[in-house]
Amino acid sequence: MINIAVVGTGYIGPVHIECLSRISGVKVVAVVDANLELARKTAARYNIEKTLEDYRDVLKDPDIHVIHNCTPNKYHYGITKEAMEKGKHVLSEKPLAMNQEEARELVEIAKKNKIVTGIDFCYRYYPVVQEMAVRIRRGELGDVRMASGSYFQDWLSKETDFSWRLQRSESGESNITADLGSHWFDLVQFATGLKVAEVIGDFASLVPVRKKPKRQVVAFEDVKETATENFKAELEDYSAVLFRLSNGAPGSFTTSQACAGRKSDTEFQVYGSTCSYAWNHKHSTELWIGYRDKPNEVLIENPVLQDASTAKYAPLPAGHPTGYYEAVMHLFQDYYDALNGNDRSAVARPTFETGYEEMKIVDAVVASNKKRQWVSV
Ligand SMILES: NC(=O)c1ccc[n+]([C@@H]2O[C@H](COP(=O)([O-])OP(=O)(O)OC[C@H]3O[C@@H](n4cnc5c(N)ncnc54)[C@H](O)[C@@H]3O)[C@@H](O)[C@H]2O)c1
Repeated sequence: MINIAVVGTGYIGPVHIECLSRISGVKVVAVVDANLELARKTAARYNIEKTLEDYRDVLKDPDIHVIHNCTPNKYHYGITKEAMEKGKHVLSEKPLAMNQEEARELVEIAKKNKIVTGIDFCYRYYPVVQEMAVRIRRGELGDVRMASGSYFQDWLSKETDFSWRLQRSESGESNITADLGSHWFDLVQFATGLKVAEVIGDFASLVPVRKKPKRQVVAFEDVKETATENFKAELEDYSAVLFRLSNGAPGSFTTSQACAGRKSDTEFQVYGSTCSYAWNHKHSTELWIGYRDKPNEVLIENPVLQDASTAKYAPLPAGHPTGYYEAVMHLFQDYYDALNGNDRSAVARPTFETGYEEMKIVDAVVASNKKRQWVSV
């Protein structure tokens, strides 16, 4: 049995626990949260033995083998570093760290200590996104000519909405480019197999002054009446990026958390010399395939019609949709297979190297927005 401690039990920590409960050979034996009350609630809900306030206590425990780091960005580097130095394997939430220097150091420490790393870029684990990646590698798209898309949400659209993500001290030099942009650029790099080479970014704060609650709020919490103080925007809640991929192909991406009605609406399109692919989280089971000389197609996730390597990510009979929990669960399954020395990922699973690449993109976009010019990644 592989014993796991989940550190951070706000929004995403419990998602990790749900998904881990479906993987054989692993068990969450401890939850840690700086807010002990939250940790206690989570432990009670999932029947977890140990509830702790200080992550150092799980690092001391020789019976804990893996740490899932589900804390805000600010704590990723410190907790992950200490955990790896104590010989714990780590699956981190994204973004990997506050900046590329921290991320690079984490990659080096992992290598030195032979740590198996993972990072939760879960959107690439939707079955038809995996299928798109395999088909592009088989040459079915032809040359990648262009990529575009967006990621819109609405949970920070009111001035009474707040998250630690909006604070420089907690999030780093970027809010949304790091938060949602890292997911989106992972989708494009994963699907195309190309890297983002150059960027020019433009940031804005669509909600310039917010009402910051005087108590802790977890992500997506519907904050009812509570004492607040005025908070002047420190980081962007809108980001637009033009970019060039490593083969020279151009692309564009826009994101904001202040788009009323958009919930968690991400989509991306890749245009090639032979055909086009598009995927949209609102219709996450569908891969749109566009042609010039014949009718377009929609592949609905289907273990029989998908490549043998990606069929395992769509385990239900055709017509039975999988969703967000399954995407995260399959990412974890690939991680624990790798930990057991049997990497069975269809294309590639996301590791700290992937997290480092994403941090380089975020840092380049931040620098570009400041300088008002193109910056190479
Ligand atoms: N992969 C995804 O789809 C996805 C989705 C949401 C969030 N995330 C990432 O997950 C991380 C957490 O985000 P969230 O939305 O769950 O935030 P959250 O605020 O809802 O929860 C964070 C929790 O961490 C706890 N915490 C803070 N410092 C701690 C410390 N030093 N030790 C232990 N616990 C500590 C807080 O008390 C809180 O309960 C972020 O990095 C975010 O980017 C990823």
